[in-house]
Amino acid sequence: MRRKLVAGNWKMNLNLVSARALVTALRERLNNPSSAVDVVICPPTLYLFPMAKSLDGSGIQLGAQNVFEEPDGAYTGEISVAMLADAGARFVILGHSERRHTIGHHEDDRMISRKLRAARAGKLIPILCIGETLSERKAGQTLEVLTFQLGAALIGSESITAAELVIAYEPVWAIGTGQNATPAQAQDAHAHIRRELRRIVGSAAADNVRILYGGSVKPDNAAEIFAQPDVDGGLIGGASLSADSFAAIVRAAVPSAEPAAAR
Ligand code: PGA
Repeated sequence: MRRKLVAGNWKMNLNLVSARALVTALRERLNNPSSAVDVVICPPTLYLFPMAKSLDGSGIQLGAQNVFEEPDGAYTGEISVAMLADAGARFVILGHSERRHTIGHHEDDRMISRKLRAARAGKLIPILCIGETLSERKAGQTLEVLTFQLGAALIGSESITAAELVIAYEPVWAIGTGQNATPAQAQDAHAHIRRELRRIVGSAAADNVRILYGGSVKPDNAAEIFAQPDVDGGLIGGASLSADSFAAIVRAAVPSAEPAAAR
């Protein structure tokens, strides 16, 4: 059975003082996180190192929000996989729609694929984000877009194992809008992603890769979304900035047979 994973994407929010306060509050609320759900937080790069210290011994893991694909060299302002690992990161978000579409980076599929290979080589686990825009959904192109983005990102990584990869299905129209995908829409997309993964990386890996849902997950919709058979947790933006709501979302991911595990 796939173990659920809940990751918080802080984006470009908080400062050192409020980030430390959030981690302290999270540690209080998730005092036994390792038993049933993997919990990851992804602070701004600059705060990885101090957060690694604040999280020490908590069982909560760290992820970065982006990485550069080259190992070192004349790349002013960029950060390598090894540097992120040095700072305590185990995961890295790749291909987030804000980097694909809005920030001005306009990351394309080829760049995302190179970053994914670099992350894997450096033993960082990519959380690969894929998802359709509203106009693509309205045009009935959702599954096609997912197939394309997944295939393009995994070029050169066909031998990847389930332990080395996490996928996040994030419909662009649901991110930060308050309009989440319905559980049925999420399940349809996730089942499609898993089918495509079987074709690309084989059944053994595909059946065990965690596929997270992201896009306006809140404490009141998380349990229903996480209950879908191919939804293995969530990538949480806005609601990860509050210890109460993030902890409630983590609790919603605890399998019902183990109700006390993440209390
Ligand atoms: P949201 O963001 O939860 O605020 O919609 C999700 C994400 O961008 O990963």
